[in-house]
Amino acid sequence: MAEQESLEFGKADFVLMDTVSMPEFMANLRLRFEKGRIYTFIGEVVVSVNPYKSLNIYGRETIEQYKGRELYERPPHLFAIADAAYKAMKRRSKDTCIVISGESGAGKTEASKYIMQYIAAITNPSQRAEIERVKNMLLKSNCVLEAFGNAKTNRNDNSSRFGKYMDINFDFKGDPIGGHISNYLLEKSRVIVQQPGERSFHSFYQLLQGGSEQMLRSLHLQKSLSSYNYIHVGAQLKSSINDAAEFKVVADAMKVIGFKPEEIQTVYKILATILHLGNLKFVVDGDTPLIENGKVVSIIAELLSTKTDMVEKALLYRTVATGRDIIDKQHTEQEACYGRDAFAKAIYERLFCWIVTRINDIIEVKNYDTTVHGKNTVIGVLDIYGFEIFDNNSFEQFCINYCNEKLQQLFIQLVLKQEQEEYQREGIPWKHIDYFNNQIIVDLVEQQHKGIIAILDDACMNVGKVTDAMFLEALNSKLGKHGHFSSRKLCASDKMLEFDRDFRIRHYAGDVVYSVIGFIDKNKDTLFQDFKRLMYNSSNPVLKNMWPEGKLSITEVTKRPLTAATLFKNSMIALVDNLASKEPYYVRCIKPNDKKSPQVFDDERCRHQVEYLGLLENVRVRRAGFAFRQAYEKFLHRYKMISEFTWPNHDLPSDKEAVKKLIEQCGFQEDVAYGKTKIFIRTPRTLFTLEELRAQMLLRIVLFLQKVWRGTLARMRYKRTKAALTIIRYYRHYKVKSYIHEVARRFHGVRTMRDHGKHVKWPTPPKVLRRFEEALQAIFNRWRASQLIKTIPASDLPQVRAKVAAMEMLKGQRADLGLQRAWEGNYLASKPDTPQTSGTFVPVANELKRKDKYMNVLFSCHVRKVNRFSKVEDRAIFVTDRHLYKMDPTKQYKVMKTIPLYNLTGLSVSNGKDQLVVFHTKDNKDLIVCLFSKQPTHENRIGELVGVLVNHFKRLTDWDTRTGGREAFSPARWGEESGAVVVHCFFYPATPTRGLHFKEKLCPCDPGVPSVIAICSSFSPQRKPCTRTVEQILEVHKAKSRGGGIRGALCWP
Ligand SMILES: Nc1ncnc2c1ncn2[C@@H]1O[C@H](COP(=O)(O)OP(=O)(O)OP(=O)(O)O)[C@@H](O)[C@H]1O
Ligand SMILES: [Mg+2]
Repeated sequence: MAEQESLEFGKADFVLMDTVSMPEFMANLRLRFEKGRIYTFIGEVVVSVNPYKSLNIYGRETIEQYKGRELYERPPHLFAIADAAYKAMKRRSKDTCIVISGESGAGKTEASKYIMQYIAAITNPSQRAEIERVKNMLLKSNCVLEAFGNAKTNRNDNSSRFGKYMDINFDFKGDPIGGHISNYLLEKSRVIVQQPGERSFHSFYQLLQGGSEQMLRSLHLQKSLSSYNYIHVGAQLKSSINDAAEFKVVADAMKVIGFKPEEIQTVYKILATILHLGNLKFVVDGDTPLIENGKVVSIIAELLSTKTDMVEKALLYRTVATGRDIIDKQHTEQEACYGRDAFAKAIYERLFCWIVTRINDIIEVKNYDTTVHGKNTVIGVLDIYGFEIFDNNSFEQFCINYCNEKLQQLFIQLVLKQEQEEYQREGIPWKHIDYFNNQIIVDLVEQQHKGIIAILDDACMNVGKVTDAMFLEALNSKLGKHGHFSSRKLCASDKMLEFDRDFRIRHYAGDVVYSVIGFIDKNKDTLFQDFKRLMYNSSNPVLKNMWPEGKLSITEVTKRPLTAATLFKNSMIALVDNLASKEPYYVRCIKPNDKKSPQVFDDERCRHQVEYLGLLENVRVRRAGFAFRQAYEKFLHRYKMISEFTWPNHDLPSDKEAVKKLIEQCGFQEDVAYGKTKIFIRTPRTLFTLEELRAQMLLRIVLFLQKVWRGTLARMRYKRTKAALTIIRYYRHYKVKSYIHEVARRFHGVRTMRDHGKHVKWPTPPKVLRRFEEALQAIFNRWRASQLIKTIPASDLPQVRAKVAAMEMLKGQRADLGLQRAWEGNYLASKPDTPQTSGTFVPVANELKRKDKYMNVLFSCHVRKVNRFSKVEDRAIFVTDRHLYKMDPTKQYKVMKTIPLYNLTGLSVSNGKDQLVVFHTKDNKDLIVCLFSKQPTHENRIGELVGVLVNHFKRLTDWDTRTGGREAFSPARWGEESGAVVVHCFFYPATPTRGLHFKEKLCPCDPGVPSVIAICSSFSPQRKPCTRTVEQILEVHKAKSRGGGIRGALCWP
């Protein structure tokens, strides 16, 4: 039910009428027409009244209002029905069709164009070029078809004189990808003759009015319409159509669609040929007919790209094959005229069909692969000539009205009959609604053997001269008793019918009197073979292609072609079958008056149309019926997510029960009926609400599915990771185990090996065991060391410990640590070192032992030092476990200075060969000396001194000698600068630095060359703090020693 419209405009849906009666229906229709509301719904059918004025209701804004909306959400409109058809097609992948019916001038063609425009406007949101191209072609093809297939009639200035059914193909996304046009029975008799007040097809007038001078000249045409016999009847008629402007539009459209220039040219040539043909006159000379205006023949020959004599021959003779002989039979004048007219009609019809074929070639769906692009769906739009009652109704009207009977039958079938039958079948309580079933009239026309068409075909097949009157006679005898057929002979009192000429059919839309004149000829539709051959032999390939059957040789016997009426009947049956296979939507057009006036609502005319269109019955069925129905299973499939009883699967005894439960849960039980296999929903609103609920649930379902799927993915990932970790764990175990096994294998029996496994190569451990390996190696090394130590005599152990200490301290810092020799320690007492003096030293040592109560002698040795006057002096040092003594060897080892060992804070040595050593003291009175050995000369004892002292202090304290020294400053940089790396051994933690002080001494052992600098820090207030950096000091001294370099540098902070 339509909404959004105030009641002042009447009821938007006839279903809302208070009583279903003709007066109320008409009153509503009239009110709406007068208020400018030309559309009204009957459920899903749109009733449209021709406004005869342009309305501003087809623009972009209106399109937006209808796009994607449900039918009843907006006021009635063509767009609503177009959208419904489009949605059905998209949502349910259903082929749909929109059948537009109504009498001539009711607005069918206009409606079909608006529908096409709407579909074009709402599709292809992604602006794909190919789709735009297809849409453009579909829209443009309309104007070409109208130019060649429409004409001004007394009822309609732009009356379609052919039937058109257009399929638009859509891809799975709902975008148009192509189309196909089927055309039905062009009223070709119009080419040669028109009723008063009517015109021939627009194309002729367009050419003459719109073609350029030059073009007309080349076609041997002149602008004046009245010069041409075939069109002069309507030449003076005023019409709303601007032919000249239309000519350009059509020419452009042909170009856009893809007609080649030579094709367009041929089209104009054909039109010109027809106009010239109409001017041909035959005169009789004795018995022989001649062409009066021979010049026209040569023009025609030129236009058709053939020879003049061949044209002339085709017009005056016909070739007849009698047995093996071929003779040219001369026409009578009448036959010549008939032949000429038949030729004109045939080439126009051929041209029209060729145009449709060309358009189809261009717009047809190409390269569509359903496996790739999904199902290709179709919306068909049928715009076919409406019911016609003229003053003089001939064969064409008979066909057209038969076509309307067929379509009405389809409407009845789908909307009235099937619907009611379905309610009965489904067991829905239903009171039958009566309607007039026009099947009886359809049968009257098309029934085999008995129908009018069959009788007409029989008459045409008779050999010998059969007249139209004879055909009428046959009708009278065969159909005399038919309730919908009558003639003067059957009803002598009916003065409206002429004897031997007229018959009347009571059509569903009204009585129509047909004149039989021309029925036989038009049905036979004879065209002499000579014309076909003439056209086939044209040197214009476009023309030649239009007439392939001209290829047949004269003697070839061809099957009798189907008659025009039978061809039309077959095409109608096919059309109706095609429409019946689709979901139909109806637009019922009504013509408000015969004056083309926007003001007049002719009650009588409209009531008649409402009656014959069966609209009232439509309302009744609709009101009593249901807007929607669907099999339970399908219904559940679409809406089961709405209810927890049905989602994801129901456990009720049947789908029907499940649907009931679902509907009750939504509260729609009043608006539905349950059939045997289907649910019936009365109002579209319910369906819409279901759709809305579904859409809401879909979101949640999508989220739910995503959740489940993500969970599944995560679980799968977790399991994989867990499995991988298990594998890794086992692999690691395996690696560790094999490493341990390998170590065990390699070190098996290591106790018995001579080197206690020193040579055994350690296997590469897995990464995780690196630290373990280090520890293991340490254990092993300690074990091996213990094994080695076991072999060392106890007396040698102190020496070994001292050597180890020296090595720990100086390894890598000094080249020679003297590890290879035995460390004597007390060199002053050992004879080889001091054969002359040791005698004097020993008593001094003993005296000191007595006095100072030392237990062990750690070291003694001769040394040299440089005094402040740079004089070298010999001295000796004597280190016991209590003191460090400086002695004068020249004075019987007189003690010159005694430093308690606990006053020593550190020891600095260089990394050079020199034996310089600095004893750092707490009171900063460092003792700087150079060890000096006489026997053997220059034996390096620095290693020994460091080892012995470090070993001694190690046993007393627990400091780390190495780090303290290294971190104090950077010996490496000094090394780079001076070639000297200084090693520091700090016996006690270093004192904080306040500033640098330095003393300079000459090397006491090698006084010739380099200087030795000792830089020391001090708290002593009398020393000046040094402001220079160590590097600067070194630079100075490098310069001082004139390139001699610095052999040793001793520094400490
Ligand atoms: N919606 C409309 N708005 C304005 N004018 C309209 C509308 N519909 C129809 N007309 C007018 O009515 C005329 C006839 O309409 P149309 O050609 O569509 O009739 P038809 O039903 O196709 O007739 P036929 O059967 O003769 O082809 C149009 O040329 C136009 O002037
Ligand atoms: Mg039309």
